[in-house]
Amino acid sequence: MNMIVRFPKFDYSDFKFYWSHNMAFSQERNATAIIPSPVEPWLIRLLQEAAPELPEDHAWLKEDTQKFIAQESQHFRQHRIFNKLIAESGFPRLVEMEAELAADLERFSRTKSLKWRLAYADGFETLGAVSGSLWFEKSDEMIGGLDNAAIRLWKWHMAEEFEHREVCFQYFRAIYCRGFVNRIVNGYFYRLYGLAFAIWHLRGFSARAVKYMRALEVERMSAAERRQLAADIKAFNKFQRRTFLKPLLANFLPWYDPGKKPIPKGLFEYLRKFEKDGEWSAGQKLTA
Ligand SMILES: [Fe+2]
Ligand SMILES: [Fe+2]
Repeated sequence: MNMIVRFPKFDYSDFKFYWSHNMAFSQERNATAIIPSPVEPWLIRLLQEAAPELPEDHAWLKEDTQKFIAQESQHFRQHRIFNKLIAESGFPRLVEMEAELAADLERFSRTKSLKWRLAYADGFETLGAVSGSLWFEKSDEMIGGLDNAAIRLWKWHMAEEFEHREVCFQYFRAIYCRGFVNRIVNGYFYRLYGLAFAIWHLRGFSARAVKYMRALEVERMSAAERRQLAADIKAFNKFQRRTFLKPLLANFLPWYDPGKKPIPKGLFEYLRKFEKDGEWSAGQKLTA
């Protein structure tokens, strides 16, 4: 898949809780940020466990796994810094919510099969792939003309999610979808179950985090700000339906293949800024 491991540097000295044009969009993304920090280290452990199960003709996927792990290691580390800033800006319960998600994932590791966990992981990963085109082709209404560390973090992360969108899908396919029956039963129905469960499970956490933050924010706001927030929520919901929920429907089709998704415009050009000698790069370092 020709993936690159990048080591970005973000300057949060001008960090603001509202970093986009739309307050509801910032609230929603700030809430969603509690997801990658526990999920992505769990994904790393999952692929380390699954790698020995890959068929012998999948050496290429083992190589991609190393890069996937290195990319996700950067993602969750960077999100932890971002999440700390958000929690410290007046939302301490986010830390508990993140810990609750981590506890759920630990429970899955103890009680669920490798097949179940890979289907869940693929569901999570395909959500990131949908976000690639949202951030690079459809986000003007929310962030057009803006540039700050929060936007750079999300765009870098979602661009790399797009870049490695196939890894978990190929794992599931290689291990559980061999032969005609498995290709249909696991490759379609079980994959959909994993996707639907991941959406339901993760959406539960982000929706709770949005509700919590929004309730605190509304208490602090003036009447005019509350009116603005109500208008922003309306516009954001419309945006979300058009840019995320509608494209997500493609993931439910039997012939869905993340590798065939068209590359969002400008995605790799943007990523180059985080590569060695790029203006937003921290230089080349070893991952722990
Ligand atoms: Fe990630
Ligand atoms: Fe990922």
